[in-house]
Amino acid sequence: MADTDRHVMEQRRILFPFPDDIERAWIPDKPELTAMMNGASLTMPYLEPFLIRTVREAAERIHDDALRTDANEFNAQEGQHFRAHRRFNDLIKARHYPDLAEIEAEMTASYARLDKRSLRTRMAYTAGFESMTLGVTEWLIGSRRRLFRGADPRVVSFVLWHMVEETEHKRVAYDVYQYLFGGSLRGYVARMIGVFHGSFDVMRFAMRGYRAILRKDGLWSSWRSRLRLAFHLSDFAIHAGPYLLRAALPGHNPRSEKDSQWVLDWLAAYPRAEPGYLPMVDTLHPDMPVPFPAQRQAA
Ligand SMILES: [Fe+2]
Ligand SMILES: [Fe+2]
Repeated sequence: MADTDRHVMEQRRILFPFPDDIERAWIPDKPELTAMMNGASLTMPYLEPFLIRTVREAAERIHDDALRTDANEFNAQEGQHFRAHRRFNDLIKARHYPDLAEIEAEMTASYARLDKRSLRTRMAYTAGFESMTLGVTEWLIGSRRRLFRGADPRVVSFVLWHMVEETEHKRVAYDVYQYLFGGSLRGYVARMIGVFHGSFDVMRFAMRGYRAILRKDGLWSSWRSRLRLAFHLSDFAIHAGPYLLRAALPGHNPRSEKDSQWVLDWLAAYPRAEPGYLPMVDTLHPDMPVPFPAQRQAA
């Protein structure tokens, strides 16, 4: 597979196991990165249903069969994502961080307010957030050996599967936006605002999530912990920032963002796996290769 453009985006129901024994610090020696990942996960069951509602409403106005199919496949994938995140979040809340429910209530209210905005604003938010996702994908997959060495493979595999599918459907929200609202200066300006609106709105809730987690872990008042957090946040910003800036330019198209070979290998190998196969990344392997038997990978 050369790239992710124009192929069927499969709905993969992969039931990553989240048993009770998942450690609070599922990335060993990196509690701040763990908190950031958990904070991001917390937003997904609120963000992704909003993306689905928005794209579903937009799809009703699309008179292009291929694009409407894309929109439906996008929604099917996002539906799988937020359900998996909700299972994971429910586990860590019940086991370690019950206070996160307060942030969840605020996200419910925030997205209810956002639902009242125009479809253009909501679609711009959707396409904008999806552009940041590509930067996060490049960060997490490109730096997987450094970030996730020795981490719980169940959680790492789940996170990286989500990133793989974000790459696979990277162009859909943009295409839907362009179909309905592109082609004018006003359409561009709204899309450009949406890049920052979508990205920073999700980030502010993710930040509240990791702050609550680090407080509960007793780390928020430690300057050493704050320094480590600042390092991880800078790492994130260095990787994701350029994606946001490029997405904000006129004429940008997410197709021009290069897909990682790891993602392409994952997508090529998955259809050859047995039904029910769990693509578990070996986090002790120095290269953390795609989680499929070698003989089944693409030639
Ligand atoms: Fe997603
Ligand atoms: Fe997405």
